[in-house]
Amino acid sequence: MDHPSPHVLLFPLPIQSPINSMLHLAELFCLAGLQVTFLNTNHNQKLLLRHTNVESRFRQYPRFRFRTISDGLPEENPRSSVQFGELISSLQAVAEPFLREILLSSSSDGVTEPPVTCVIPDGLFYYAVDIGNEIGVPVIPFDTISPCCLWVYLCIPKLIQAEEIPFKAGMQGLLRRRDFPFYRLIDYATDPYCQIALKEVESIPRSNGLILNTFEDLDGPLLSLIRSHCQQTYAIGPLHLHLKTKLAEKRMPISASSNSLWEEDHSSIQWLDAQPIESVIYVSFGSMATLSKEEILEFWHGLVNSGIRFLWVMRSNLLRGEESNHQFVKELSEGCKERAYIVSWAPQEKVLAHSAIGGFLTHSGWNSTMESIVQGKPMICWAVYVDQRVTSRFVGEVWKIGVDMKDICDRYIIEKMVKDLMVTNRDEFKKSAEKLSNLAKESVGDGGSSYNALQCLVDDVKKLGR
Ligand code: UDX
Repeated sequence: MDHPSPHVLLFPLPIQSPINSMLHLAELFCLAGLQVTFLNTNHNQKLLLRHTNVESRFRQYPRFRFRTISDGLPEENPRSSVQFGELISSLQAVAEPFLREILLSSSSDGVTEPPVTCVIPDGLFYYAVDIGNEIGVPVIPFDTISPCCLWVYLCIPKLIQAEEIPFKAGMQGLLRRRDFPFYRLIDYATDPYCQIALKEVESIPRSNGLILNTFEDLDGPLLSLIRSHCQQTYAIGPLHLHLKTKLAEKRMPISASSNSLWEEDHSSIQWLDAQPIESVIYVSFGSMATLSKEEILEFWHGLVNSGIRFLWVMRSNLLRGEESNHQFVKELSEGCKERAYIVSWAPQEKVLAHSAIGGFLTHSGWNSTMESIVQGKPMICWAVYVDQRVTSRFVGEVWKIGVDMKDICDRYIIEKMVKDLMVTNRDEFKKSAEKLSNLAKESVGDGGSSYNALQCLVDDVKKLGR
């Protein structure tokens, strides 16, 4: 009997951070010689092709293909965080029949490519696990959120059973009510996002493994706990660093490898070039989180009053509930030109790697956190929702590489925290951040834990293909 050659179908959540991580994984698979299909939504594919060189970058891998599907929403839908639930369910309606069809067919494109032998969907696409099981194609979800939040998800059924939710006490004293992903919720049984998280958790034992963007030296104790739910958990991160290391190993160009859905403003790098070493705090709230006008003003005045220089990414949709913040932002920046620089989207990896950056004021999205850890930059965390709330607690209390603001957005607190991170306790934060950065680098180097886990994942995917 002919054995099909291994062919992986990657299916990311249709937002910036998971697209970024899945593209890194796709390229790592290409380097390992696997056939890879990357399933993107039409909407995001258009943005990706408009703002990056991703098409020409992947052209060097003849066994790589993009495929696209509709996300089911009309083009004019803004697809912001408010519409996230709507986006997930409309995409599901399109993706379920598509996955069935592609997994049942004898070739993935109906003509030349071998059939798909393994599906790697985002962890939130729990339905892909059931479709794979139904058809007999292995599924290894990639959970692109933080492992500490995944652990909270895994605990939710037990907490509900023990009547700890709605909340009584925190988990083992570390997590408080306000560190929980759905902390405002009263009714866990009816919240749609919580229901998806619970379905995801239920699907994990039925999958053929679990991929996480972390490394053993960062999340070792959590990984042991997660492995009690899914023995075959591959910790292969930090993925962006892993990819760079592999490209360097193969003496391939690392060059500009942006996966941005927005146009990157490279003037931010020129501005940083003119600033003293470690004098600037980078401020960004990721791709979806929003702030009220009052919060933006508190951050602005806190930063200005700290006397520290800052580079702030003000996305055009950062302001909650309003169409555009351009005028308001322009007015702010006029008065503080020497010490503040504003862009609407930055080449973040390059910014964090810049010697002028001394710290990061972040929303604690998982990619931003990993990127900061890799560069050894301490963080101030203003978590907005879901995994960010758990991650920020870990930054402050477990890894001790920054401070967790939580709840009170006040200019005096911000000023104090910025001074604390950039001046008063700088050496202490820098020391622990640099220690973690070195461990991250070791993990993806030859023989490191993530290096070995990726090898193991590739070997397992190849075996699944036989
Ligand atoms: C979302 C959720 O908000 C987060 O909780 C979850 O962990 C992942 O999905 P997002 O807001 O996209 O995350 O934040 P993050 O995970 O930090 O990813 C943002 C990505 O965009 C990073 O890779 C970052 O490098 C990139 N980015 C961000 C830029 O390239 N330029 C910018 O100006 C801002």
